[in-house]
Amino acid sequence: MGMDKKELEALLTIPEEKMENLLFLAAKTKRETLGNVTYLRGLIELSNICRKNCLYCGIRCSNTNTPRYTLSDEEVFFAADYAFKNRYGSIAIQAGEQQSEPFISRIERLVDEIKERTGGALGITLSLGEQSRDTYRRWKEVGADRYLLRIETSNETLYHSLHPEDRNHRFADRIEALHNLKDLGYQLGCGVMIGLPGQSISDLANDLLFFKRLDIDMCGMGPFIEHADTHLKNPHLSLSARFDLTIRMIAILRILMPTINIAATTALQAIDPLGREKALRAGANVIMPNITPVNTRSAYKLYDNKPISEDCLDIQDKTLFERILAAGDEIGFDLQGNSKHFRDKQSV
Ligand code: 5AD
Ligand code: SF4
Repeated sequence: MGMDKKELEALLTIPEEKMENLLFLAAKTKRETLGNVTYLRGLIELSNICRKNCLYCGIRCSNTNTPRYTLSDEEVFFAADYAFKNRYGSIAIQAGEQQSEPFISRIERLVDEIKERTGGALGITLSLGEQSRDTYRRWKEVGADRYLLRIETSNETLYHSLHPEDRNHRFADRIEALHNLKDLGYQLGCGVMIGLPGQSISDLANDLLFFKRLDIDMCGMGPFIEHADTHLKNPHLSLSARFDLTIRMIAILRILMPTINIAATTALQAIDPLGREKALRAGANVIMPNITPVNTRSAYKLYDNKPISEDCLDIQDKTLFERILAAGDEIGFDLQGNSKHFRDKQSV
């Protein structure tokens, strides 16, 4: 459905009493285009080592309070096998940005081996930051299916206010990376943070139009949440207002791009324990349960209050699955859950 900027701004600021209508339309769109199925991606937080220094992020390289870790191959395979055996359909491997050749070839090897171990059946999403076109190509060749790279905000001036002014944090590089990923045939995921200091409703409407123009296949959006070790704060917007705006963004994006995959992100759950389920009701269709070994989870802390379950995976799954069902969805067991938007483009 096409919408212009004015219409998007109107929906982003729709009065509370009309929210139900927006949510109803988003839920109807999801049901009619995708069915009420939530896809699972087991999230493996491979390493919190990062070369970047984004002002909002708890694992930025200058934060010396964070102990750094990298999972062993055995830990990664254990997590991937868990996801496969428990019928997740897909995993997502995430880490801070590292560009060394040993890192690049390690990812290549891990993707290759996980595909091998699962007979190609387990879908693999990577979220490993900006890389050269050649690196993206190498990872694609061994079988990576999708890539998540958030633009964080499509407003270049705002982007620069959130990142150090140096060669490691160029807006143009981020845009180029997104185009390379798309060109190389990845299912492309993008996203923004919502409630950033200095971010306006006009910016958020532009973010939605940016996604549409880039023709993304997947989206992950979450509220900005302060981290105690970082200086970036937004005293002007409460956490609950950021939560509410995020739900609106999800609902509007579902209507704007009916067939893409939209994640119910963990940052929502940091504000409201039922945050992800509310996102599913507002049109999201993907959940990424954390399957990182429990002992390293607390070190991958991008923002405060990040939910860290210490339950064993079986119990974590049971609780989550019950909640997905309670939100009115089925669970996409054994389904890779590729983006319908992407599949439709392939078939023309
Ligand atoms: N609050 C919310 N999301 C954050 N991210 C990083 N720091 C924060 C924060 N303080 C998100 C960014 C990044 C993703 C990995 O985590 O959008 O792309
Ligand atoms: Fe690194 Fe990503 Fe955090 Fe930026 S947001 S510091 S790139 S992990």
